[in-house]
Amino acid sequence: METAIELVNLTKKFGDFTAVNNVSLKIEKGEIFGLLGPNGAGKSTTINMLLGLIPPTSGKIIVEGKDLYKNLNEIKQDIGLVMQETIVEPELTAEQNLILFAKLYHVPNNEIPEKIDSLLELAGLSNFKKAYAGTFSGGMKRRLEMVKSLIQDPKILVLDEPTTGLDIQNRTKIWELIRKINVERKVTVLMTTQYLEEANDMCNRIAIMDKGRIIALGTPTQLKHLIGKESIIEIAAERHRLEQIAGIVQKETGEKPNISGDKVSVSVSGNYVKIMKDLLDRLNENKIPIEGISMHEPTLDDVFLKLTGTSLRDTLSEETQSSRTLMMRRR
Ligand SMILES: Nc1ncnc2c1ncn2[C@@H]1O[C@H](COP(=O)(O)OP(=O)(O)OP(=O)(O)O)[C@@H](O)[C@H]1O
Ligand SMILES: [Mg+2]
Repeated sequence: METAIELVNLTKKFGDFTAVNNVSLKIEKGEIFGLLGPNGAGKSTTINMLLGLIPPTSGKIIVEGKDLYKNLNEIKQDIGLVMQETIVEPELTAEQNLILFAKLYHVPNNEIPEKIDSLLELAGLSNFKKAYAGTFSGGMKRRLEMVKSLIQDPKILVLDEPTTGLDIQNRTKIWELIRKINVERKVTVLMTTQYLEEANDMCNRIAIMDKGRIIALGTPTQLKHLIGKESIIEIAAERHRLEQIAGIVQKETGEKPNISGDKVSVSVSGNYVKIMKDLLDRLNENKIPIEGISMHEPTLDDVFLKLTGTSLRDTLSEETQSSRTLMMRRR
């Protein structure tokens, strides 16, 4: 395997605050690599350093075997970037947006029309060539932006949260496009995401990031094996009962449970039906009412929970909840 990008002890401090803390990893050529982590984990900061947009406090970035900061202009040609915020020009058509970028990257004039047609086709936007980008849905804008960053035929495409804020239909289209770019155009993809399913389904390998550090690295399957158990049992109940439930769960299963949100979860091996039945019996004997009990196979969220003590899904739902509260307050 050849290495596309190598980060060596990469660190970024903002004053006393360490946003990226001694991150080392290798991204191989041809893979779709995911940086998965909650808000503030340091994903964008890592990517911004990789693109030469902010200098690291210490550490090294090697792209295609070359030191990034010693070869910045040359390497920038090899990396396409799609930032977290959408930046297509709303008052230009899809075609004009791409022409502008083609000129910026000095694509020869005679190559521009053919290139634009093929990129619009790739994005599923051929019918919208003459339409103003300002009239596009969020998903269409995103797709236009993604193919825009392919104008200089980069070897590596970096996508910062390509699907955050999009509905599931638009998300699916972005996933298809990322796969096509990776397979048909042979572009190595580095993407960040807060979505567990996205990381699980899209990425060959994932680095889980939290508070500036890489806390786990591997294929989705390797990461889920970190749990070391076959099933996760979850018991939902009123929050003030969770400690007591966790005590009973620990005694009954011999495993250390986690409390997150309104649930106690525990990873177990063996006959989970019997384990669940025994747990229900103990809870009944102790007269502890619960709201539900369920089982699932380990997910990346269980890995995150095991490593950090908090659920990534909970950090997301809290964010959604606070934006909902805001909306209600506005009304
Ligand atoms: N220019 C800056 N000055 C000070 N602090 C910063 C700066 N940029 C980022 N940070 C802080 O560094 C931490 C990591 O931020 P970063 O944007 O890299 O997170 P992220 O993983 O991309 O999160 P999100 O999913 O919300 O985009 C955060 O606590 C953020 O507030
Ligand atoms: Mg970010």
